[in-house]
Amino acid sequence: MATSSWTASVALGDPPEEVRAGRPSSPVRTLLMTASIRTDRFGPVPAAWVADHARQRADLDLETVDLAQASLPFVLSGNDPDEPLPTSVTTLGSRLAAAEAVVVVTPVYNRGYPASLKNAIDWFDHEWARTPVGFVSYGGRTGGVEAVEQLRPIFVELRTMTIRPVLSFPNFWNCFDAHGRPVDPDGAARAADAFFDELVWWALTMRQARAEVSQ
Ligand SMILES: Cc1cc2nc3c(=O)[nH]c(=O)nc-3n(C[C@H](O)[C@H](O)[C@H](O)COP(=O)(O)O)c2cc1C
Repeated sequence: MATSSWTASVALGDPPEEVRAGRPSSPVRTLLMTASIRTDRFGPVPAAWVADHARQRADLDLETVDLAQASLPFVLSGNDPDEPLPTSVTTLGSRLAAAEAVVVVTPVYNRGYPASLKNAIDWFDHEWARTPVGFVSYGGRTGGVEAVEQLRPIFVELRTMTIRPVLSFPNFWNCFDAHGRPVDPDGAARAADAFFDELVWWALTMRQARAEVSQ
């Protein structure tokens, strides 16, 4: 009978040295993207809380982008590779390329994700690549997970790694008080920490892989 020389640690993947050491050599550059651009949208509420939570962690260096203010054109560029890109595109592209992890905060629209998010996805290509992506979703009974499940294969095409934990807010109108604080702060903080722990693991793993490849 054939025996495998794999060990459990090889099969599962050893954690990156920075994870084993307990803290990264520098915080993970993380870009949090608010996807909804709708008038009267709810999106900024979960986005602000998640951003505040992330800023309390020493292993994250968080920046935010709100697609409502990013002003990406809805008409994509043509086939001429020398055609100059709009400044709004190059600005967001540079930020995406510099990010070591991305958090997408998305609502669910008709069991899918919003057009504004697909537009932001499609304007870019290599800028997304080799980046772990985590999802914060909100919606009715299902908390917007339909949008997340639709997004996973799209992010595969962009050569990203989507993480398993989803920070989802079912019946979101019951999840936050009038000041935008979670009504279950301990539960929300626990879920957010599990989410960011996983995101950081992948970001540091990819950081280490990039460093090894460039040696
Ligand atoms: C076009 C549209 C479609 C929607 N479809 C769904 C849906 O399929 N499932 C759901 O739970 N909520 C749905 N909703 C309700 C949204 O979850 C809710 O409006 C939420 O506030 C949207 O996020 P936003 O305010 O940040 O844009 C829909 C809302 C809109 C505007």
